[in-house]
Amino acid sequence: MSHTVLITGATSGIGRALALDYAARDMNLLLIGRDEARLADIADLCRARGAEIASGRLDVRDREAMATWIAARDAENPIDLAIACAGIVSGTNAERPLDTEEALRAVLAVDLIGAVNTIEPVLAVMRRRRRGHVAMVGSLAGLRGFPSSPAYSMAKAAVHAYAEGIRPALAREGIAVSLIAPGFVTTPLNQDLVAPQPLKMSAAKAARLIHAGLDRRKPLIAFPLILYMGLRLLTLMPARFGDWLLDRPGVDVPLTRENEKIEP
Ligand SMILES: NC(=O)c1ccc[n+]([C@@H]2O[C@H](COP(=O)([O-])OP(=O)(O)OC[C@H]3O[C@@H](n4cnc5c(N)ncnc54)[C@H](OP(=O)(O)O)[C@@H]3O)[C@@H](O)[C@H]2O)c1
Repeated sequence: MSHTVLITGATSGIGRALALDYAARDMNLLLIGRDEARLADIADLCRARGAEIASGRLDVRDREAMATWIAARDAENPIDLAIACAGIVSGTNAERPLDTEEALRAVLAVDLIGAVNTIEPVLAVMRRRRRGHVAMVGSLAGLRGFPSSPAYSMAKAAVHAYAEGIRPALAREGIAVSLIAPGFVTTPLNQDLVAPQPLKMSAAKAARLIHAGLDRRKPLIAFPLILYMGLRLLTLMPARFGDWLLDRPGVDVPLTRENEKIEP
């Protein structure tokens, strides 16, 4: 029996590595991204591994287009698992100590509303079937506000809270919800980041960890474990200590070029 997996952010980094990791015979992969060439490339690579591919050149900020495409693909092959992975980052540095107004809204539009635009239409069909699995990609940066990327932390914290909040009701309907909280992963997202990036791992390794966790329908897939535990511990410590520890001089998280609204 074939298995249908939808992945947003499939054109780069973790989403691309996940697509490759899932690509096999008897797999239908629904791959979403914006970059046409990179979308065609990952689709070809996955087909070469024996998977059936439908690629959607879509912007996750486009609620209507996402809902229409997802409903149409689900009618062809009912979606078993959807991974909302698409995301952007923006942050601060010594000259720009706060997120700009536009960057803050762009990050929320993609990382938070984009994730909602992905899982809502998927949940609509899964709830009718009373089975399925959705996964939302958060971040260890969602466990605590990071002075280097406050808007990103806000968006990811909201993703965490939403995934946790919907989990019990959906479990009663036979649908699993997994929250994925990665630490540093080598991808284009953080290639220009100037900051300590402890225990950074490859996208292929992150994809293997995520895939293994999703196979077990784990509610939380957070890694590396030591960094996750450290951050959880930090949230129990005095706020001033956390502020001091995370407010490192010389850190530079580049400004996103994305906007809140889709460029015409
Ligand atoms: N890398 C890390 O260290 C790290 C750590 C924790 C969490 N994460 C999270 O993991 C997820 C993937 O990040 P990554 O590191 O793999 O980043 P990446 O290599 O930059 O890939 C981001 C992906 O998101 C897609 N995307 C961005 N904006 C989009 C939009 N408006 N509509 C549709 N697709 C859009 C991109 O598609 P196009 O290029 O085709 O536009 C690309 O496929 C993100 O949610 C990120 O926050 C990453």
